[in-house]
Amino acid sequence: FPDALIDRFQRRVDYLRLSVTDRCDFRCVYCMAEDMTFLPRREVLSLEELYEVARVFTGLGVGKIRLTGGEPLVRRGILELVQRLGQLPGLRELALTTNGSQLARMAPALREAGVNSVNISLDTLNPLRFRELTRSGDLDTVQRGIEAAVAAGFERIKLNAVILRGRNDSEVLDLVRYARGLSIDIAFIEEMPLGPIVEHDRGLSLASSDSLHREIDAAYPLRSEGDPRGSAGPARYFRMDDSPSRVGFISPHSNNFCHLCNRVRLTVSGRLLLCLGNEHSVDLRAVLRQSNYDSSQLAAAIIGAMDLKPERHHFGEEGASEIVRFMNMTGG
Ligand code: GTP
Ligand code: 5AD
Ligand code: SF4
Repeated sequence: FPDALIDRFQRRVDYLRLSVTDRCDFRCVYCMAEDMTFLPRREVLSLEELYEVARVFTGLGVGKIRLTGGEPLVRRGILELVQRLGQLPGLRELALTTNGSQLARMAPALREAGVNSVNISLDTLNPLRFRELTRSGDLDTVQRGIEAAVAAGFERIKLNAVILRGRNDSEVLDLVRYARGLSIDIAFIEEMPLGPIVEHDRGLSLASSDSLHREIDAAYPLRSEGDPRGSAGPARYFRMDDSPSRVGFISPHSNNFCHLCNRVRLTVSGRLLLCLGNEHSVDLRAVLRQSNYDSSQLAAAIIGAMDLKPERHHFGEEGASEIVRFMNMTGG
């Protein structure tokens, strides 16, 4: 059933974000608490279960899967999973969002296994600040990872920079220059209120996409990309005259893309979340672990879940409740 996944607002879901672990070797200040407890093994979907979910989703018309985390590349056996996903008929794009820490080692094998595109987090080019923002990451390792990804020849590479006022907002142009130097894309992200972060005041540290856009536009005039591929995602992309790199803005606070939303996400505990900014979900793990499981039950649960997809998120709105789940549970 190629058109089975249409929600109550006539949005067609053809994109699954699949979190393969809640663990991460970094502790980014906007994503996690410093001392996180992670899920016990039995609550985590096995590689076989993850593959089964992906297979059933592609059978329902999902053509794009993005592997997320935590940090997807710290999941044991991830390469085997990627290799199997790469063979799924119907999958037109296999993508990965990573912190880059393992890429220097893994980029060629990932490309070979069929990963088409990679998004890599990079918030700063200053080693000390990198350590502060990730609490445990090493900038040099990540930059070598980014270079390895470029060398491996992915179809698309995008850097993700979460910009916090007073912290890394002075580096916006440097980050654009870095992306231009490698001919890759870069997206600037407004911080979203997921998880009870205590490290900084999210209201005070918001750097609005509009102000970043003005700053970049003054140095490198930005032309709106109009429609193409970004149209169903949260990023608005712009082109510069003298570079193949694109500049994107992901602005949940100042620009809502929910009416075009094409995606759902699965946490590694098997919770199908219908929206990043809401709690509406269906427990697919319970279906997968039924004693008489067969895949038509999973398909039925996924199709049934479409009616739960909410119209939009309410980030940053007066009276909106904070979402208690941390970003590493959701995979962004
Ligand atoms: P593609 O559209 O597949 O290129 O990916 P992306 O840029 O949406 O995903 P990526 O994993 O690189 O995440 C970048 C940022 O977008 C993260 O901060 C995500 O949390 C955010 N993001 C991803 N999906 C959604 C969504 O449905 N809604 C909102 N508001 N933000 C999202
Ligand atoms: N708000 C916005 N983006 C976030 N990310 C992690 N936590 C947050 C947050 N609170 C980003 C990471 C990564 C992507 C998966 O999500 O920087 O690039
Ligand atoms: Fe890890 Fe990514 Fe969260 Fe940073 S933002 S702690 S790299 S999952």
